[in-house]
Amino acid sequence: MEKKPIKIMDTIFRDASQSKIATRMKLEDMLPIAEKLDKVGYHSVEMWGGATFDSCIRYLNEDPWERVRELKKRMPNTKMQMVIRGQSLVGYRHYPDDVVVCFVEKAAENGIDIFRPFDALDDVRNLKTVIETVKRIGKIAEGTVCYTISPVHTTRLILDKARQLEDLGIDLFCLKDMAGLLDPYTAYKIIKRLKKSLNVPIHLHTHDTCGMGAMSCLKAVEAGVDIIDTVLSPFSEGTGQPPTESLVMALKGTPYDTGLDLNLLAEIADDVREMKKKYKEFETDMGGVDSKIMVTQIPGGVMSNMAAQLKQVGALHRLNEILEEIPKVRKDLGYISLVTPTSQIIVVQATVNVITGERYKIITNETRELLRGGYGETPGPVNPELQKRVLKDEEPITCRPADLIPNAMERLRKELKGISTSEEDLLTYALFPHIALNFFKRRTPELNLLESN
Ligand code: CO
Repeated sequence: MEKKPIKIMDTIFRDASQSKIATRMKLEDMLPIAEKLDKVGYHSVEMWGGATFDSCIRYLNEDPWERVRELKKRMPNTKMQMVIRGQSLVGYRHYPDDVVVCFVEKAAENGIDIFRPFDALDDVRNLKTVIETVKRIGKIAEGTVCYTISPVHTTRLILDKARQLEDLGIDLFCLKDMAGLLDPYTAYKIIKRLKKSLNVPIHLHTHDTCGMGAMSCLKAVEAGVDIIDTVLSPFSEGTGQPPTESLVMALKGTPYDTGLDLNLLAEIADDVREMKKKYKEFETDMGGVDSKIMVTQIPGGVMSNMAAQLKQVGALHRLNEILEEIPKVRKDLGYISLVTPTSQIIVVQATVNVITGERYKIITNETRELLRGGYGETPGPVNPELQKRVLKDEEPITCRPADLIPNAMERLRKELKGISTSEEDLLTYALFPHIALNFFKRRTPELNLLESN
């Protein structure tokens, strides 16, 4: 058989930190490890995007842009990859096109090589501005479709969306299994079909939440996948990715041999294990397999957050009722995937439905917006009665939602006058106005004086 080395993306600084230690990993702990990772020969290292941006300014008092620059210095030979929530960038709502374009340009300028945009509704129109900008500036665009299970989600649907993304000019295609629901034989079937119908390399992203991550990667390899996502063992398994070392070992001596040095990986894993000890308080207690996920499809991170919040308000005893309500709300909302931000929308609405004792007695703003078409086109039809109740005589939106959002950069620039002149700060402010201002004040205490003058 012809040799086909499998390429590996390590998720240690982004997804693994997000899934295993609540996105609390600090830059100072990444830097010494980054230097060593640069010698491994990975396809890429995922180090930005998702919740990392928010976490930097909210909890860590770190400039997210500086993180990119510093990691780039330590990893000059490795491609730096970020995950980006389509038109929502690294936030939770759709932003205007001028903000999206500027964000992608600045991210690239600071050091991002590969952009992986996904959309919670898999509405390809929501990925268009990001992909076109990435292409225009000569970086690598990795189009993504989320993997989820529902009566409307078929292999055909994935293939259709993948082809639409290929028409937009993507360089790579990623199948994103955010909750670890993809079983090995389905992985084989889908990857085989994708390989047949796409011309671009195929990347598989999984989690080990249901204990199938490594098995699915292996079957995907047999089906012809080009790149897989793994993480160094101390951050692997459970809600994390399958372990890098195990996959490297499993493929060793086969036509798929990754060529990565196991001794070097073991040495770095030792450092990572030491580093991880600092974050014990943030570790999720879901280390092993959680089969509840197979039924509810709720990503591990969301589940642990939900339990913690219910505990705070003394409603933890209603958890099982809420878990039963979640699939019903999901059906009403057109079988949207459980991924940021739709996972939060579904979970909050289901919780409200249970706690108030009457379904949709209270409808959250986000549920309303979703029923209005404000997030894009849902994979399946929404509950028409519920939609009518929310919209009354208003017609739902059918265009790309961002077409209705006016450009904002000029307005934001005026608002930030006297506080900062950096374009990066402007973007931080565009995404998280309130948190950004607090962060700027902590970073530059003189700003507090300015305000009181
Ligand atoms: Co993930």
